[in-house]
Parts: sequence; structure tokens; C-alpha cells
Amino acid sequence: MERKKTVLTGIKPTGTPHLGNLMGAIRPALEMAKKPELDPYFFIADYHALTTVQDGKTFRNLVHEVAATWIACGLDPARCTIYCQSDIPEIFELSWILSCVTPKGLMNRAHAYKAVVQENQEKGQEDLDAGVSMGLFCYPVLMAADILMFNSDFVPVGKDQVQHVEITRDIAQRFNKDFKKVFKLPMHVLSEQSAVLPGLDGRKMSKSYDNTIPIFAPSNQLQKLIARVKTDSVGPTDPKNPETSTLFMIYKEISTPEEIEAMKQKYVAGISWGDAKQQTFEKLDQFLAEPRKKYQELMANPAQIEQILKEGGLRARKVATALLAEVRKAVGKI
Ligand code: TRP
Repeated sequence: MERKKTVLTGIKPTGTPHLGNLMGAIRPALEMAKKPELDPYFFIADYHALTTVQDGKTFRNLVHEVAATWIACGLDPARCTIYCQSDIPEIFELSWILSCVTPKGLMNRAHAYKAVVQENQEKGQEDLDAGVSMGLFCYPVLMAADILMFNSDFVPVGKDQVQHVEITRDIAQRFNKDFKKVFKLPMHVLSEQSAVLPGLDGRKMSKSYDNTIPIFAPSNQLQKLIARVKTDSVGPTDPKNPETSTLFMIYKEISTPEEIEAMKQKYVAGISWGDAKQQTFEKLDQFLAEPRKKYQELMANPAQIEQILKEGGLRARKVATALLAEVRKAVGKI
């Protein structure tokens, strides 16, 4: 039997997850993980987060939040190997080995580093590397180790991470050429969702715009947030255009084709914004009820999260240990 292909993605813990994250990243990745021909690996890139989070308590919380979020949204730990990056020491050994075949110039061109340099330039900073840690600079090498450690075939990522997967391929090719053909070349998979979910103010839902709807907000907060969604000034009984309505776009993401069609008719017939808000809220509240409950249960029981991550970590380490043995042999270590 042919080995299943591996799909792997890393999740950087970054604060309260919102509907935009759910629709744009979590849901497409989980859909992919469900395919029977794939072997999914999802991990929490906690040591990557260490480039920005420097407070122990916040750090631990973030890890729990991310794990609980993904499990609550449908990740099945029995089928999908879920683990914490920092529990797999093999990744860090591999990261060092890879850094020795990585040209520094390749890192100079990585976008996160370049952005800081550019910012320093614009601010007239004398030291263009001000505020750059080696962690930030070497971030793509660690990411390459994450990916290559499990011989990943597919890596679902957002647009901003495509460059990092390309860098990973470069690094893998160099290693294969310099030592031995150990690594497969991974492919990035852009999340299929091309439409972006709008936030409360109609712009893309994003933490930086402060316009998000948190996935696990309690009902009453959810209702208040939906009440804040920006609408136009069309009169209460006048026909409304669903295609330009933020409310409708949210509704569309969480409803069946029949429900969507029925709602469309209501807009055209002239539903009031107040009613549209109420109905969108009810639908969303119902849609999120199950995940919200599961999330709260998990967060109230961190030992259970730890246990899931521990089991996933053990599974992942088996694979990592075998691959690292090959890598060590290739570089000549006895
Ligand atoms: N850098 C990714 C992000 O910021 C997270 C990440 C770390 C990752 N390692 C990975 C994603 C490996 C895919 C594969 O979102």
C-alpha cells in the first residue's frame, strides 16, 4: 500500500480567534484534514511565537487557547496528530543542521525581516537591524524544520506564508544536493477561501482593524457585536442588496444553500436591518453554540488539553526520530 500523503500546518498562537480565522484558515484546513487519503499533522508553533511573546503565563495560555480552539472547531485528535512544536526536540536539531546549508542572503530576503529593516529605514534609524532578534531572522529556518521533519507533501497556509514554504523548498534542495536526497519538496496550499469575510465595519475582519467577532463570545456579546455591524441607510421596508451587505456575507458563511436563497429573497422584499441583524445573530449563535461549549469545557480542563498534546507529541516524535536518524547519517554523524 502506498504511504498516505502528509498535510501539515503550524498555527502561531496569536490572541483571541475570530470568525475570519475560522472561515479563512481553520475551516479550510480542517476540511483538508478530513480527506481519507491524507495524514494530517497540526501543531502549535509555540517557539515561533517566542519571537514576540516574552511572558511565560501569556505563552502557556496561548498554547491552550489554540489547541482548544482547533479541537472545538472540529479537529479530531484521534485522526489528526496535534502537538506542540516545543515538545519535539528533534525539530530544533534539524533546524540547526538546516541553518548550516541556508545562505544568509536567503534570510535577508524573507518578508518579516525585510519589513523591520524597511521600517527602521523609514524611521531614520542608524542601525537597520534594530529590534531584530536572531529568532526573528532565523524564523524561516525553523519553519523549514517544522515542515521537513515530517516529510510534508502539502502545507496549507495563508498568503503571507507562501514565501516561507518556498524558502523551505530551497533549503531542502540544498540539503539534498549537498548531502543526500532525504527530503521531499513540500507544496503550499492556499486556503481555498478567496473571498474574505468582512468585519463589523465592512473592512476585512482583522485584529488590526479591531472589527472582529470572536468565535467563542457568549451569546449576549455576540448579539451586541452583530448589532454593531455597519449597514446602509436604506429605509426599513425598502429592498436591500444582499451582495453588498456585511450581514448577509456573514449569514452566507454559516447557512445552507436553501437558507441563503430564502434570506436573499427577504433582502429583496425589504427586510428591516433590525430584523436582518436579529436573524443573522440567531443563526450565528446556533452555529457557534456547539464549538463554544466544547471550547469552554476544554479551557476549564487544561489537563485534558495537555493530555491530548502529549499523546500527539509522542506520535509525532516517533516519525521525527526516524527522519532525524536519516539526516544525522547523511551529515556523517555516527
Ligand atoms: N509561520 C506560520 C504563521 O505565522 C506558522 C508556522 C510555523 C507554520 N511553522 C509552520 C505554518 C509550518 C505551516 C507550516 O502563520
